Formats: sequence, C-alpha cells, structure tokens
Amino acid sequence: MIVIAHRGASAYRPEHTLAAYELAIEMGADFIEPDLVATRDGELVARHENDVTQTTDVASRPEFADRRATRTIDGREHDGWFTEDFTLAELRTLRATERIPDVRPANGAFDGRFTVPTLQEVIDLARRADVGIYPETKHPAYFRSLGLALEEPLAAALRRNHLDRPDAPVFLQSFDPDSLRRLAALVGAPRVQLTAPSLPALELEDVAGYAQAIGPEKRQVSATFAGEAHRAGLLVHAWVFRPEDADTEAELRRFMELGVDGVFADHPDTAVAVREAWARGR
Ligand code: G3P
Ligand code: CA
Repeated sequence: MIVIAHRGASAYRPEHTLAAYELAIEMGADFIEPDLVATRDGELVARHENDVTQTTDVASRPEFADRRATRTIDGREHDGWFTEDFTLAELRTLRATERIPDVRPANGAFDGRFTVPTLQEVIDLARRADVGIYPETKHPAYFRSLGLALEEPLAAALRRNHLDRPDAPVFLQSFDPDSLRRLAALVGAPRVQLTAPSLPALELEDVAGYAQAIGPEKRQVSATFAGEAHRAGLLVHAWVFRPEDADTEAELRRFMELGVDGVFADHPDTAVAVREAWARGR
C-alpha cells in the first residue's frame, strides 16, 4: 500500500508548502501531492484553491488590495484573491498561512515562512528525495475557459523532467474525466479518477479506459469495492485520512483489510506506522 502525503504533511505544516512536502518525505511518504492551479502567466503552482485568501497573507498586502474579485468557479461564487490574477512573480511575494488554524493551531507558528511552490519545485524536491509526485488538476474546465488550461503545461513539465512514461513515479489525478482523457492523450504517466459521494457515479469499466486507478472518497469504499475495482484493472487509492478522525489508526488498518492500494493522509507518519505494523503482523 502506498502512502500519499495529502497536500504534504498537512496536519503538521501549512498545506502545499515545500516544508509540508519535505516533512512528509522525512515521515516516509511514497508520494507527495500537489494540487495544481494556474497563474496569470500560465505557470502551475501548488494550491488546493485558486482563491488564496485563506492560504496566504494576500488579504493583508496593500499592494494587492485592488486584485480582490468575485468569481464563479464550477458553479459557486467566491470572493477573494485568485491565482489567475497574479503573475508567478507577484504570487511568489506572498507567504503561506495555515488554512484551518482553528483545527490545527500549532501550524500557525509557520505562517509567513514559506512561499507558494511551483510544480517544478515540487518535482525537483521529489527527485532529490526519490519519491513520487501525485499532481491533481483543480478546476480544469474553469482554467481552460480562461485560456489557462492546466493539462498542456502539466504534460510539458512531465516531459521536460522525463516523467511522462507509464512507469514514471507519477499519478495524475482529477475529479474531471475530461481532464484525465486530455492527459492520457498527452503523456503516458498513470492517471487516477477521483470520485466523491456528491458526484455522479462512474462505471469502473469506463474509468479503466483512461485511468489506471480510482480514488474514492473513503466512505465509498464498501467491503466489495476494492475487489470490483481490481477486477476492472484499477488500483484503489482512498482519500482522505486525518489525525482529527476518530481512531485514525484503526481506520487505516480497516482500509488495509479492505484491500486498498493507497491512502491519502494528512499525517503520513501514522499511515506509514500502520503499514509497518501490518507488515510485522500486528
Ligand atoms: O486528491 C485526493 C483528494 O485530495 C481530493 O480531495 O479536495 O483534498 O483535493 P482534495
Ligand atoms: Ca487533492
């Protein structure tokens, strides 16, 4: 079972910072997960939301006060500051902050210390540490509508870094089947169809036509889920495990028993420990 550091070791550091990814690697994660959005000049950066109001200090920066905007993204209205309104150079002047300080107050100690990383920085870190990358295209249709499509620059980065082959230490993920189909046409790196209870159900056989794995929200993983996915030729990577979950170690053990092939964890140290205990027969 692989351990995917969800937004880095995001339980312990502000998410999607090099520090969060570095700590995840120290903890034994096999893959680090950058969610990807685009800047105004088409650079890919690691953020879960293109609205960076909660994850950076942008709201306190007077030089960017006039960039505040209201945008409708995938059917929902957002008010804030958006990556697509900043060049990479401008975005790099911002500093990351903890997204959920009420839940993870200790992470607030790191506010202001780290930049928003580029995809290339994440790739460079992963290469140095000999771990894989697990990039996700976020709001791909929205960005394409702005002329800032995510798939082509992602594919170009993979090619540039010799990570475009089927055996590369890479999983490309999206909730959007169209995004994955576009990626499948561009590069050979493995792909993962994310699913969630709130989204339309997908047929495993259809997913197997363009992806090598399925990434269900963990409540979707029934006793028969992994077996059915495996029979369709798909690996199963379940999301997301957090230290705030009740009895998280027992939960991770249960998912190992259910036969999942990977877990996204905010606390990769715990997932690695559970996996090691499992291997020792405990
Ligand atoms: O990528 C798996 C999981 O991370 C999807 O949820 O919202 O955390 O990107 P999200
Ligand atoms: Ca993600």
